[in-house]
Amino acid sequence: MTAVTNLHYQIKPGGTCTGQWRVPGDKSISHRAIMLAALAEGDTRISGFLEGADALATLAVFRQLGVAIEGPHGGEVRVRGVGMRGLQAPTAPLDLGNSGTSMRLLAGLLAGQAFRTTLIGDASLSRRPMRRVTEPLAQMGAQIAASAEGTAPLTITPVAQLAGLDYVLPVASAQVKSSVLLAGLYAEGDTCVTEPARTRDHTERMLTTFGYSVRRQGLRVCLTGGGRLSGCRLTIPADISSAAFFMVGASIAPGSDVLLQEVGINPTRVGIINILRAMGADIELIDRRTCGGEPVADIRVCYAPLKGIQIPVDQVPLAIDEFPAIFIAAACASGETILTGAAELRVKESDRIQVMADGLTQLGIVAEPRSDGIRIIGGQMTSTATSGPIQAHGDHRVAMSFAIAGLRASGVIDIHDCANVETSFPGFATLAANSGLNIVEQRT
Ligand code: S3P
Repeated sequence: MTAVTNLHYQIKPGGTCTGQWRVPGDKSISHRAIMLAALAEGDTRISGFLEGADALATLAVFRQLGVAIEGPHGGEVRVRGVGMRGLQAPTAPLDLGNSGTSMRLLAGLLAGQAFRTTLIGDASLSRRPMRRVTEPLAQMGAQIAASAEGTAPLTITPVAQLAGLDYVLPVASAQVKSSVLLAGLYAEGDTCVTEPARTRDHTERMLTTFGYSVRRQGLRVCLTGGGRLSGCRLTIPADISSAAFFMVGASIAPGSDVLLQEVGINPTRVGIINILRAMGADIELIDRRTCGGEPVADIRVCYAPLKGIQIPVDQVPLAIDEFPAIFIAAACASGETILTGAAELRVKESDRIQVMADGLTQLGIVAEPRSDGIRIIGGQMTSTATSGPIQAHGDHRVAMSFAIAGLRASGVIDIHDCANVETSFPGFATLAANSGLNIVEQRT
């Protein structure tokens, strides 16, 4: 499942971001669609499925668990649901590659199964904190062994019965919330999760779409174990986290005008829109509608000069995956941008505060990392000709963010270790080139 690591991007300066297209399907929603469809009674047909390595890892795991899945073919997937108790014991460890969402959600879903499983991942995933899920799951009675550092591999041993839990999340994390709720499907009685701040609610929405009752009151969400899911028809919106690169690209490159079609605008994901607008971006939401239980719109973004801001802390969970791209916007803005309350960025696919600060510094931008955020002073980005290539550290969103920076740099930008762009955005470089970015891929 691990992608090749020898992919580099080279971006020549200039260009615009222009045109209209639909970026690939939402990653978070694609994972959940496969998981719930597998546990449902009857078939589920999914359109717009993300054919990126992370979502494909989830799909492959359910095949290993005995679920018949046709596709994906052009984003179409048909899952023959096996019902809540129909998964079968796999014969090998389940390899989740780079995907933290797969590992954390599956830990919850598999905790209630009658067979043993082992979850493994690539080097980056094997460094990421898993106690945040193993601890609440243990409180439900789950038996999950991790490394001494609380990381993968995770070995899940069956238990007679999980117990419902009333859990107050210590960090705002949709993955932890979802993991506990998915275990709650198999638990006795009620399972409730209270969040410190609203995080993406795709699990709750999709459970409802599959006919499972979920109760929400403010920041508390509850369900009762022992119910059933019914197969359905789902269309997955385009991923706002992928659209974000072009939203930033169009905002920073004079002459740009993009229309991003059918993008998910779930209120728990729109931090990128709110933050860019606060910086002065010209963003229009056109033809708001719903798609697969999720709000969507076409998003038009035209170039507008940006100004630095203090990013409101309440936007952090709503933009958690978009900060690498937002930092590029900040580097192109006039004045200072300050982010606080975002320590979670240090435990993503890379330490996104440090890695982005390093890359921006190489490009001549003042970028001061802080324990829970960063301070960036907008300026002229230079090239990597003298500083050496930017290291993406295998982080897809870091690679794509620095690629977009090429629109405003004064010279060539070289970026190393970009192969994991495939985890969330297959075809990124081609789409970016078609939109006007001077990008070439190099494999060595
Ligand atoms: C995700 C939740 C977020 C996000 C990740 C996807 C999800 O992680 O960063 O890319 O699909 O639930 P956290 O829950 O760790 O914030």
